[in-house]
Amino acid sequence: MTDLYAVIGNPIAHSKSPQIHAEFARQTGQDMRYDSILGDLEEFEDDVEEFVAGGGRGLNVTVPFKERAFRLAGSLSDRAHAAGAVNTLVVGENGLLGDNTDGVGLVRDLGCNHLYGFSGARILLLGAGGAVRGVLRPLLGENPAQLVVANRTASKARALAEAAASYGPVSGCGLDELDGQQFDLIINGTAAGLKARVPDIPGDCLADGGWTYDMLYASQPTAFVEWGRAHGAQRALDGLGMLVEQAAESFHLWRGVQPDTAPVIDMLRNAA
Ligand code: ATR
Repeated sequence: MTDLYAVIGNPIAHSKSPQIHAEFARQTGQDMRYDSILGDLEEFEDDVEEFVAGGGRGLNVTVPFKERAFRLAGSLSDRAHAAGAVNTLVVGENGLLGDNTDGVGLVRDLGCNHLYGFSGARILLLGAGGAVRGVLRPLLGENPAQLVVANRTASKARALAEAAASYGPVSGCGLDELDGQQFDLIINGTAAGLKARVPDIPGDCLADGGWTYDMLYASQPTAFVEWGRAHGAQRALDGLGMLVEQAAESFHLWRGVQPDTAPVIDMLRNAA
């Protein structure tokens, strides 16, 4: 029987997840279908229930429902718990398991696809919303020398850093407190790029040979990719690889097989 999966979000029309999972299924010979669902802003929980009642085996959850999926799940993985958000629901015999694959997606894209060496790096993580919460502890797990979370609203960055303090050398501050500091890797997890803007950070905070990474992906270079290029980044990456890697981890949770991500990243890059 064909197993049913879907991504749920609002808006959803531009999601690349159906294409990614269709390719993973083809590649690994899995008998599954993967749809997209426009979630109702009021009745997201009912939409999930209906999908499960119809035989659905798993969901990816995207903006703006990740926190609601966190509350809806009957049980949570450690990484979902740490993130306070769920991007993957697994329908099991004992109800809904919530997981979060965003962090592993980012770490694998940088570490495995681009061979970035996190160990000893000074990392600046911009933002303090759901995107940053999902990747904060996975990044600390990679042994950086320093991880600074900086946000327009400083108090939110400080709160996130305090909550993660036992996992590594992390601190939080405002964007306006970065003067005089230098970083080997700057990761943008703010929503500024959605309006083609970049967070207001000092022009000299990227160290020589430093990299930039935008968690956002668009068919054109994002505003933060342009910022990286303009400020001498050795590599200025966007979030396409993270998107495919987090999908691969969800696929693995559901199907127990690890798809090959490189051809899928190439396919999407070439289609842009
Ligand atoms: P998400 O779940 O996608 O991370 P969010 O929870 O709404 O979205 O968080 C958006 C993040 O982008 C916040 O860190 C926000 O900063 P504030 O906490 O100060 O609001 C940040 N952000 C949005 N627009 C920004 C801009 N133009 N410059 C800098 N940061 C911005």
